[in-house]
Amino acid sequence: MTKIDALVLFDATGDLAFKKLFPALADLTAQDQLYIPVIGMGRQAWSDEKFNARIRDSRNTHGNAAEQKGLEKLLLLTRFVGGDYNDSATFGKLKACMGTARHPLFYLAIPPSSFSTVIESLHDAGCANGARVIVEKPFGRDLASARQLNAELRKVFPDAAIFRIDHYLGKEPVQNLLYFRFANAFLEPVWNNHYVQSIEITMAETFGVAGRGRFYEEVGAVRDVVQNHLLQVVALLTIEPPSSHTVDALRNEKVKVLDAIAPLAPTAVVRGQYAGYRDEDGVDRASQVETFAAMRLYIDSWRWAGVPIYIRAGKCLHNTVTEVTVKFKLPPQNVFGNNSDAQSIPTNNQLRFRPTPEIGISLITQTKIPGDAMRGEALELSMRQSDITHGLNPYARLLSEAIEGDQTLFARQDGVEAAWHIIDPVLTATTAVQLYDPGSWGPSMTATIGPVGGWHNPAAGKT
Ligand code: BG6
Repeated sequence: MTKIDALVLFDATGDLAFKKLFPALADLTAQDQLYIPVIGMGRQAWSDEKFNARIRDSRNTHGNAAEQKGLEKLLLLTRFVGGDYNDSATFGKLKACMGTARHPLFYLAIPPSSFSTVIESLHDAGCANGARVIVEKPFGRDLASARQLNAELRKVFPDAAIFRIDHYLGKEPVQNLLYFRFANAFLEPVWNNHYVQSIEITMAETFGVAGRGRFYEEVGAVRDVVQNHLLQVVALLTIEPPSSHTVDALRNEKVKVLDAIAPLAPTAVVRGQYAGYRDEDGVDRASQVETFAAMRLYIDSWRWAGVPIYIRAGKCLHNTVTEVTVKFKLPPQNVFGNNSDAQSIPTNNQLRFRPTPEIGISLITQTKIPGDAMRGEALELSMRQSDITHGLNPYARLLSEAIEGDQTLFARQDGVEAAWHIIDPVLTATTAVQLYDPGSWGPSMTATIGPVGGWHNPAAGKT
């Protein structure tokens, strides 16, 4: 595999670079995994010094101890090129700055509307030959534009050089979903529609669009996190075992399961918007863009037919937490008698995965309350890994894989298209967004498409 000899970050002045990419790069330099020039690109005319100050600032705000160690080494590698992406002179400057580099890796952390211009300009400036490209999600705005974007990329880059990034795939707890499923034999007999009643996924954030109003107006919650992060989680939870260790075996299974999900009926989706969103910078005062989405979907497969999967994601919600709950059916009979006594009736077993804020897995079981009566209570068997930080930066992991040329943790085009195919009907529907109060769990209408008995609202900091 060809060695990458320069890393070029587009929109290095932006939010993603500041919050995620600079700490990830510092993590890599700390581990001596990055020693090539790192060129920041942006629309502003920044000096190298200003760029470095921004990286330092990011370190102070978002970096952990290991990343701070790598910072000084990173600053020896960085340079900045500023200019309008519509101006070919900007790409001339980039080419000059790349010097003798022949196998650059371009990281396009840009809004979907800028992809075509940048790809074409890289080609026209002679920068694309022998290069690899990382494309940020969402990959396209819908199925048709994802196909078009892919066609444009393929005119310039071979498929093996295209890395469709979804940082959820680099997250340790998301990888653990896959590991947990296929490394624990006890799960397989019950992991199907005979035993599983429903699956519920909540991705909640207490903060709003946090300065990303312009980006959000182009995207919305469904495109921002459901089409990619959360459908990837659904896929990892529900795929069949991959048939081999090859790069494509896992991706084949993911595509199969996504293909088995019927396109979402707009009536199975609630779109919400937090009160105050329309006052954010860059947001239309009459915006109908959703900052919250809840939906119910089904996988039409032998294993999962009839099991509802509930997904809910949003900004300005009650807690910052992502949680996956697999709820099992009740035992076939209540052998403990008196149905009028709630504690004599077992409740559903549940397996919960918690990727953020701390990593946790718990199994909710039923156990007997000591005493003469056969009455029970829920007992949670739980594992938490709250202190692990080193080596878990998903962007560091994914950047390092892209530098090595390994596509296993990146989305494949057919998988991206299968996910858009599920989401597409919701994007064209003209259902009005429901307003909700910041700090709530979203619009009240969410209950109408949720699980029987209501959504499980995860507490912050514990399962
Ligand atoms: C990003 C979305 O992909 O994921 C953000 O654009 C979201 O809106 C973020 O906040 C959540 O990811 P993490 O890893 O910070 O929980």
